[in-house]
Amino acid sequence: MFSERMAFAEGTNALAAARERRQGKGLPLIDLADSNPANAGFVWPPAVLAAALTGPGVQRQDPDPRGLPSAREAVRAYCSERGATVGTDRIFLCASTSEAYSWIFKLLCSPGDEVLVPEPAYPLLEVMAALECVTLRPYRLRPAGDGWSIDAATLVAGPRTRAVVCVNPSNPLGAFVDERDRVLLRDFAVRHSLAVLCDEVFLDYPADGGAVTWAGERQVPVFVLSGLSKVALAPQVKAGWIVVAGPDDFARQACARLEHVADAFLSVSTPAQLALPGLLAGASGLRREVILRCADSEAALRRWAGPNGCAVLPRQAGWTAVVRLPPGVDEERLLLAAIEEGAWAHPGFFYGMPAGSAHVVLSLLTPPDILAQGLVCLEKALRRA
Ligand SMILES: Cc1ncc(COP(=O)(O)O)c(C=O)c1O
Repeated sequence: MFSERMAFAEGTNALAAARERRQGKGLPLIDLADSNPANAGFVWPPAVLAAALTGPGVQRQDPDPRGLPSAREAVRAYCSERGATVGTDRIFLCASTSEAYSWIFKLLCSPGDEVLVPEPAYPLLEVMAALECVTLRPYRLRPAGDGWSIDAATLVAGPRTRAVVCVNPSNPLGAFVDERDRVLLRDFAVRHSLAVLCDEVFLDYPADGGAVTWAGERQVPVFVLSGLSKVALAPQVKAGWIVVAGPDDFARQACARLEHVADAFLSVSTPAQLALPGLLAGASGLRREVILRCADSEAALRRWAGPNGCAVLPRQAGWTAVVRLPPGVDEERLLLAAIEEGAWAHPGFFYGMPAGSAHVVLSLLTPPDILAQGLVCLEKALRRA
């Protein structure tokens, strides 16, 4: 009865099943992978949110499928502050970055077409692609200095390849797409007539230094994806955006078609659009708090890792830590033991971490007391592994 595209929803894995069993018994489980900012204490005051969402204009729906001009102007200013000159006519509002992926897949791909994606990466892409009947072909990232760079030998396009995704900076690796990889992706996209999808949701969370958006790109077709979830710590508002960058002729054609996709859904509510400028303009304080929390969590994790035979991989940006386990420890066995000890974290294989070494992935948003308690559980699990 059901579409084959839903095949990914069948079955479960041993870790999810063990978690369900524990929670079914009513036993506590510390979530070391929780990256929801609200759960970690990063929230807008209710009065500020309420005021932002109830401004004048909430009674109307603007017919422009690209979104309210005031909201697009705010996204333009956001890009401009990050060094990119973008016209508001090249900005589309949508409900989230995840939705932005699905719109771009609709725009570029027929069923069965292919999109190249980095590996390791956030597993969300597999679901978004499956729902659009798009096939993913991974290209590998490998450690390079304190970051990760593209293994050029694995970046391969076939006759049905339509686009290449990069995540700047990567989740979970926390590595920016450096200049060498930008040039590589640009040349590759030109050679194979592909578009680049650049996911920049974590752009504003460098561990130190700054970052460069791709929204100002002129040479190759680029779609920059981001949204309030991460940029303004407001996932519940449901507002994201797409910036169409690249040569004028491409952008004109892409925008004309994207307008039909946006018009079919009109998915961003008027209150969310009206709130967007204020949330974008006022988020820097919360972001600073998040950057500090991530630095503190990372320092605590490093202090814990050494004596336990683990290593925290270098991180240039983002909210996530990747911890390499001691040689011989199996990540799934360890995490099953950790669930019994009372803590949940993600295994590296969930993100396509390289085979041959074992990793666990943790959220650096985790409040310090919870992180400390969770690490005690992980330590006990390590002794059993
Ligand atoms: C790299 C990356 N892109 C996109 C998303 C989804 O963002 P949104 O909440 O805007 O859909 C996530 C969520 O964690 C993510 O890690």
